[in-house]
Amino acid sequence: MVRVLYIDCCIRREESRTRVLAEAFLAALEAQPGYQVERLCLMDEPLTALSEGFFSQREYLLSENQRAHPRFRYAYQFSQAERVVVAAPFWDLSFPALLKIYIENVCVDGITFGANERGTYGLCKAKRLLLLTTRGGDYHDSPLEMGARYLEALCDFWGIPRFDVVAADSLDLGQEAVNVILDRAIANAIKLADRF
Ligand SMILES: Cc1cc2nc3c(=O)[nH]c(=O)nc-3n(C[C@H](O)[C@H](O)[C@H](O)COP(=O)(O)O)c2cc1C
Repeated sequence: MVRVLYIDCCIRREESRTRVLAEAFLAALEAQPGYQVERLCLMDEPLTALSEGFFSQREYLLSENQRAHPRFRYAYQFSQAERVVVAAPFWDLSFPALLKIYIENVCVDGITFGANERGTYGLCKAKRLLLLTTRGGDYHDSPLEMGARYLEALCDFWGIPRFDVVAADSLDLGQEAVNVILDRAIANAIKLADRF
């Protein structure tokens, strides 16, 4: 079984077009034998940003090598996944802050990455990470797009060799029907489900 971690940051839940794209991908993935999907809905998690006591607790636990503490569960879950799928809308040229808070909780020295005198190296098992996103405007190939590019850089940091993104662009421009744009993105996503 290939263990897939699905990270749902579709803040608008049932209203979310990004979630429609993600569910189509997951249905195609789960229709194949050999994939076991674990779903993590960030909106349902008690995620906390690193600040004040929550930050200093982390520094203390790491200095004492207490990595079995429950607050590191997100980092362990992420580091053990064999494939990762992230669904998040494009917000403010990137993705929602909730996903960044999750990332802060996942980036833990000794769990998802390590460091030595030459710099950092990834400790994650996953061979691939796929970002599924939808955007109001057209940002594919735009230097203003900071969400996919940031996640791609993080894959390098985490030691995940392959990054893919499937995006439905221009959903809010009114130039083309939303369902036409979404169907095109869904078709692209389903192609990636094959041997993911
Ligand atoms: C808070 C917020 C910020 C947004 N920022 C951008 C943006 O910077 N650029 C853009 O093209 N669209 C932006 N949008 C539009 C969304 O990317 C677009 O509507 C997307 O399809 C929403 O995904 P969803 O249906 O999954 O919620 C923003 C929407 C919201 C609610």
